[in-house]
Amino acid sequence: MSDLVLRGRTVVVTGASSGIGAAAARRFTELGATVAVIGRSPQKTAAVAKTIGAESHVVDFSQLDDVRRLAEELLTRYPRIDVLANNAGGIFASRKESTDGHEMTFQVNYLAPFLLTNLLLDRLAQTPGGARVVNTASMDYRKGNLDLDDLDTTRNRYRWRSVYSTSKLATVIFTRELARRQQGTGVTASAFHPGVVASDVGRDSAINGALMRSWLGKALLSTPEQGAEPLVHLATTPDPVTIDGAYFHRLDREEPKNTQATDPALALRLWERSALLTGLSATNRG
Ligand SMILES: NC(=O)c1ccc[n+]([C@@H]2O[C@H](COP(=O)([O-])OP(=O)(O)OC[C@H]3O[C@@H](n4cnc5c(N)ncnc54)[C@H](OP(=O)(O)O)[C@@H]3O)[C@@H](O)[C@H]2O)c1
Repeated sequence: MSDLVLRGRTVVVTGASSGIGAAAARRFTELGATVAVIGRSPQKTAAVAKTIGAESHVVDFSQLDDVRRLAEELLTRYPRIDVLANNAGGIFASRKESTDGHEMTFQVNYLAPFLLTNLLLDRLAQTPGGARVVNTASMDYRKGNLDLDDLDTTRNRYRWRSVYSTSKLATVIFTRELARRQQGTGVTASAFHPGVVASDVGRDSAINGALMRSWLGKALLSTPEQGAEPLVHLATTPDPVTIDGAYFHRLDREEPKNTQATDPALALRLWERSALLTGLSATNRG
């Protein structure tokens, strides 16, 4: 890839205070982009931004009001947004609720990025040359099972793995529906699985977190830099229309292996429900 292909472009990366997002943010600055490093921890976010010479912004996805505040901050600061990388995410060993009363995995991994994307959509559509939304999903989406009547897992038993998988299935469905709704606007969308990466993602689960941080985990798993490769690829691949709505397993395009992922009626209902839950008005519902 030639140097500085992103010169003059602005790339917004959530979850950039560590792991895959931090590695991607670093690569985007190397490619010449103005990068908005977004994280939850002010200290970690500022440290990453300082190291790569970028600006930092802080948000807590467990509060939808904070997502709205961040969107305003970004709209004020960046006259163009060429790439929005919705990468922040987490795993929660036991059921927790957000400030907004939603199950935490559902809100942090799906609902907050849904809201942020919608609040930035006009700016994305106005960006000269078009803009891309790249969503960090996971191969776990294959095992997801979306129950629109129990998005907050109050009725079904909480199992962290299946709730995480379902949040990533929602991400894949959202990506495809966003691509469909934005056809012809210049905004494209894609999603990917980064590989199994040694990072802090399992920090809330004692066994998972310890494995990921251990020398064995680090030896067996991919590095954050490797995990960032598909994100950088999807953000820079020359003709974004060819990847619009697509899901990638690392660098390989994959037709979704979950029938819910390709159900247009479910996608429509999930979008409408998400718009209601986030209080989006009819005018900015994508
Ligand atoms: N690692 C893997 O094997 C793997 C596999 C498939 C998919 N993924 C996905 O890849 C993405 C990045 O994860 P990672 O592996 O790089 O893990 P990570 O190192 O733990 O990074 C997660 C990032 O998300 C941010 N974040 C977490 N909760 C947040 C919240 N409530 N509000 C705002 N930001 C929040 C974190 O911010 P702070 O650190 O500042 O709290 C951090 O920057 C996630 O979406 C994850 O689901 C990872």
